[in-house]
Amino acid sequence: MSFVPLTDLLKEAVQGKYAVGAFNCNNMEIVQAIIGAAEAEKAPVIVQASQGAIKYAGINYIVGLTRLAAESASVPVALHLDHGTSFDQVMQCIRSGFSSVMFDGSKLPVEENINITNQVLAAARPVGVSVEAELGKIGGTEDDITVDERDAMLTDPDEAKYFVSKTGVDALAVAIGTAHGIYKGEPKLDFARLTNIRSLVDTPIVLHGSSGVPDEAIKEAVTRGVSKINIDTNIREAFTGRCREVMAQKPEEIDPRKILGPAREAAMDIIREKIRLFGSSGKA
Ligand code: G3H
Ligand code: ZN
Repeated sequence: MSFVPLTDLLKEAVQGKYAVGAFNCNNMEIVQAIIGAAEAEKAPVIVQASQGAIKYAGINYIVGLTRLAAESASVPVALHLDHGTSFDQVMQCIRSGFSSVMFDGSKLPVEENINITNQVLAAARPVGVSVEAELGKIGGTEDDITVDERDAMLTDPDEAKYFVSKTGVDALAVAIGTAHGIYKGEPKLDFARLTNIRSLVDTPIVLHGSSGVPDEAIKEAVTRGVSKINIDTNIREAFTGRCREVMAQKPEEIDPRKILGPAREAAMDIIREKIRLFGSSGKA
């Protein structure tokens, strides 16, 4: 199957009251793990690449690897740019074949965020590409973007309503207490804020920084209307953790396949677990 726009997947998720997993990739094994997990779970899936991943692997590799895996899969796959912070980055992804892009203008004043989001929408809509935007500031580090905890700012529900009315964006990332990377303590999500935002905007809501959020909190977020859930750190931990284990057990091993193969399996296992947790298993 060729890539589907995010809007197609999220429309079904909203109706079916589940969330679609959006998993970060940066190499062949992780792409295979994401699509293999979705296929095994018969789940729709979003493969996403950050600017850092694009820089590392090369945009044509990201698109090529994901397209190859998606074409031989029976489940719908969207290829999404995660946290694009410039108009040029977003355009490069649209031209290269992504079916969905995120313009992250959360560090900008709201009117500027609206303005650039609208420019992105004007370029993306005619070619059938979906657009996610972000309002509020999610703390922590996602690849090349770091937001200091003191600068993190929860999404204002009224501002979310205003933002959506001015843009009509396809998906909205909100800050409700999650953070990118590894949590120091247990994250406390502001569910009342999520419900308030949900009551004011119809747009599908995206939860970032979802690795390390307790399962019960994830389920609650889905019940309260989150439709896309981003996972990166948990995949990194599983993948590199397994590499370390294999190398510790077999210090003489020189065949990369004997290290990366088990790491790919570990990544696939955690992705399958997340898909089941989000309620999207069996939805493709
Ligand atoms: O944009 C990507 C996600 O928000 C990933 O967050 O690394 O905490 O899973 P995470
Ligand atoms: Zn994120």
